[in-house]
Amino acid sequence: MANLEVEFTGLKLKNPVMPAAGPPIKDYKAAVAAKKGGAGAIVTKTISTTAAKVPRPNMAKVKGGFLNTELWSELTPEHWLKEEYPKIKKLGLPVIAGIGYTKDQIRELAKKVEKYADALELSTHYLGDDTTPIKESIKAAKEEVDIPVFVKLSPQIDIAEFAKAAEKAGADGIVLINSFGPTLDIDPKTAKPLMGSENGYGWLSGEAIFPLALRAVYQAANSVDIPIIGVGGINSGLRAAKMFMAGAEAVQVCTEAIVNGPSVYQKINKELNEFLDQNGYDNLDQIKGLTARVVKNKANYETVVPTVIEKNCTTCGLCITSCVYHAISFNDTKDYVEIDPKKCAGCGLCITRCNFGALEIR
Ligand SMILES: Cc1cc2nc3c(=O)[nH]c(=O)nc-3n(C[C@H](O)[C@H](O)[C@H](O)COP(=O)(O)O)c2cc1C
Repeated sequence: MANLEVEFTGLKLKNPVMPAAGPPIKDYKAAVAAKKGGAGAIVTKTISTTAAKVPRPNMAKVKGGFLNTELWSELTPEHWLKEEYPKIKKLGLPVIAGIGYTKDQIRELAKKVEKYADALELSTHYLGDDTTPIKESIKAAKEEVDIPVFVKLSPQIDIAEFAKAAEKAGADGIVLINSFGPTLDIDPKTAKPLMGSENGYGWLSGEAIFPLALRAVYQAANSVDIPIIGVGGINSGLRAAKMFMAGAEAVQVCTEAIVNGPSVYQKINKELNEFLDQNGYDNLDQIKGLTARVVKNKANYETVVPTVIEKNCTTCGLCITSCVYHAISFNDTKDYVEIDPKKCAGCGLCITRCNFGALEIR
């Protein structure tokens, strides 16, 4: 069994999978469930100086993803300080407390929350071009507390620029990404938006945003020296492994924990362990930042025809259907597929279309 322990900014986690700020970690009861479900740390739902007034409906499972128009916690900070944080702290896992959103709100909350937390996570949900609000929020928190301060960023900003600004302002780590949007989906029976927000818009999370999150983590990890925590569309150990390869130190999960319950942390850890074992890795350090070491930073224009691994081919025909170059067909006895190298453009789609590992680029 590979070692899944991680350590960053003085935080020691038995495993690197934690909840992301949101409903799966909305109070003490949810934290108990997250611990039981195998989380390596507790990240608490973002609180602000007042309780949020949240429109309804505010959550929807959509194909390939999830929409929400939740805000921060609907519980007051006073309630969190009296009823939730003290009990969460006693669970014995490292606690990263989410607070937001403006520099003044963060300044007001940081000190009060500090005694219950091992680190703070500043949620800003900032979408503009100017790094000033982020820098000011980080500085406000750093002036108030002695524990590490992480800042959570949205995907629709210049990641490298904001990551560098956050590091310069004193952030101890960066959490990437918050949900993406605004987005819209409609109930076709009523023509009404699924979300109950003023304009019906919501924020996209889950499976669909994984490539966006992975790129953001990769870009940030290669722009700054502070730790990056990856979040966005993680629903398997394989996806968690990819986050480490992109440069993450740990990962967070929100949508998958909402949709499939708190046992997902355990499942992701198990799959991550299996991936490491099967590929001969002993620990997460060995895959951390691996992609930056193998990426060529130079586009490839050479056509490489995929190799068919005949024994793996189930002749399902998916690759044939989606080959826009008509380069794939069944062999004479219909036992496997063949690729015509004269027609194949080396686009690579068939490799990702095959569910059985029957095609690969060597
Ligand atoms: C219903 C819901 C509520 C959320 N609430 C918060 C929040 O309070 N603070 C925050 O920083 N992010 C919040 N998020 C964003 C998540 O923490 C996470 O960054 C995002 O959903 C991407 O991860 P995922 O694909 O695993 O859900 C929320 C997401 C969802 C779906």
